[in-house]
Amino acid sequence: MASAPSPNRSDITLHINGEKHPLTVDHRTTLLDALRERLDLTGTKKGCDQGQCGACTVLIDGRRSVSCLQLAVAADGREITTVEGLADGDRLHPVQQAFLDLDGYQCGYCTPGQICSAVGVIEEHAAGWPSAATDDVRPEAGPPELTPEEIRERMSGNLCRCAAYVSIVDAVARAADERAHDAEEAVA
Ligand code: FES
Ligand code: FES
Repeated sequence: MASAPSPNRSDITLHINGEKHPLTVDHRTTLLDALRERLDLTGTKKGCDQGQCGACTVLIDGRRSVSCLQLAVAADGREITTVEGLADGDRLHPVQQAFLDLDGYQCGYCTPGQICSAVGVIEEHAAGWPSAATDDVRPEAGPPELTPEEIRERMSGNLCRCAAYVSIVDAVARAADERAHDAEEAVA
C-alpha cells in the first residue's frame, strides 16, 4: 500500500532477480542498504560503503554497478541482478562454478562482488569493449584477447583483502573461455 506523500520518501518497485519488490524508501537510502536491510538480500556485501572496494557490486540492466553509490530511488523499475540471482536452480552460474573449482576466494567476503563483476566483465569483453590495458583500441583491430593483464585491469575495481587474485584471474579466464565456446557452438 502506498504511504502518505512525503518530500523525503518515495514509493518505488525494485525488480530483483526476476521478482518485483514494492518499497517505500527514504531518498537517501542506497541500493545496497535497501537490498541488505529491507529485503534481506545479504549476499551483496558492504565493504567500504564509499565506492572503493567493489564488494557491493550488482548488475543493473546487465551493467556492473557498485550498489553503495547507487540510490535505491534511481534503481526504481530497472532490472537488478544480485549474486542470489545468478544460479539456475541448483546449477551454479559458470562464473560461480569457476570460482568454486579454482579456489577464487579465501574468506569469501569479496566474492559476491567479484563474481557479479566478472559476469559483467565477460559480457563487456564479448561485446568488444576495450579496457585501459588494451593496446590497440581501433575498431578494425577487433576485440582484444582476454589476457590475464586484461582481466586484472577490468577487475581492478574489486579488491580482495585475502589477495586471492591469482585464482580469481584464473576463474574469470575459464568462465570467459566457456562463454566463448558456447557462443561458437550456438552459431555452428
Ligand atoms: S561497499 Fe560499495 S564499493 Fe565498497
Ligand atoms: S576472499 Fe577474502 S576478501 Fe576476498
